[in-house]
Amino acid sequence: MANAHSYKPSRLRRAESLRSLVRETRLDKESLIMPLFFKEGKAAEAIPSMPGISKMPETVLLKEIEALDKLGIKAVLLFGAANGKDESGSASYDEKSAFHKAIRAIKRTSDIVLIADVCLCAYTSHGHCGIVDKKGAKIDHQKTLDALAKIAVSYAEAGVDMVAPSAMTDGQVKSIREALDKNDFGETAIMSYSVKYASSFYGPFRDIYKSSPVFGDRKSYQMDPGNKREALREAMLDVKEGADIVMVKPALAYLDIIGAVREKVDVPVAAYNVSGEYSMVKAAQLKGWLDEKTVALEMLNSIKRAGADMIITYWAKEAAQWI
Ligand code: PBG
Repeated sequence: MANAHSYKPSRLRRAESLRSLVRETRLDKESLIMPLFFKEGKAAEAIPSMPGISKMPETVLLKEIEALDKLGIKAVLLFGAANGKDESGSASYDEKSAFHKAIRAIKRTSDIVLIADVCLCAYTSHGHCGIVDKKGAKIDHQKTLDALAKIAVSYAEAGVDMVAPSAMTDGQVKSIREALDKNDFGETAIMSYSVKYASSFYGPFRDIYKSSPVFGDRKSYQMDPGNKREALREAMLDVKEGADIVMVKPALAYLDIIGAVREKVDVPVAAYNVSGEYSMVKAAQLKGWLDEKTVALEMLNSIKRAGADMIITYWAKEAAQWI
């Protein structure tokens, strides 16, 4: 026990207490969401461009989720994948897939909040987020909506708490909401990638599932970084279609957008601190040019201050130990 006589009041400590008393933004681990990448097979595979992050098979995933839970992380965003890719990405909604099996295993062993990314790009041979029409010229809208709804229902069936459609197909929230309700999954929530810019900050992510489009790019369905009013329109439209949470992505170059969306909608706003934002700090840390911990916390703090209610970040696990 501390001896009362040995205690020395410290002016420094008092100054820090005062600072924390009047602090406007607090970063808490409860609002951090950790993205996790699934792979088939037995062994985990490190992602070279994202130090500390790997693709994980079921057994490793289960251990990782247990560790995150112990650290106080409340939610994870799961990315699925399958070895077999085809034109229409049909492995994505195959209920017998290894990924669906992994979701069921997580549900049996953990009560962490499970959010699953709903997209086709990790499953299509051409790497686009939707189904490409016969001429290979553009996305077949209706076929893509149907596939996305099928994926969402199959994930809900396996047990996820929330689905996060990221394909940027107009009307995806509405069609997923209707499909979920029709199949008795009224409780399954939707976190929509409502405001997703055509950004170069996704670079490292596309290496993960070799999901760069083999032809064309994603500009026809991702937003122009110059546009702000359009972002508000997209966010409001998704709320109307039934989104429970809207997301802005990426985060750091779009802090003004996070703030504007926060003002506009009455649902929680999530910000996605994407792969490139993570990798550039990791790279600078490896070179000894920046102090990763303080830089990362400063970035996360700025995203919170801008108005994000929750942050999807590859630092979630480390930040839970830093905070
Ligand atoms: C698409 C998807 C992407 C990301 C999340 N979901 C890639 C893209 O839109 O090109 C990027 C996440 C990141 O960079 O961390 N399914």
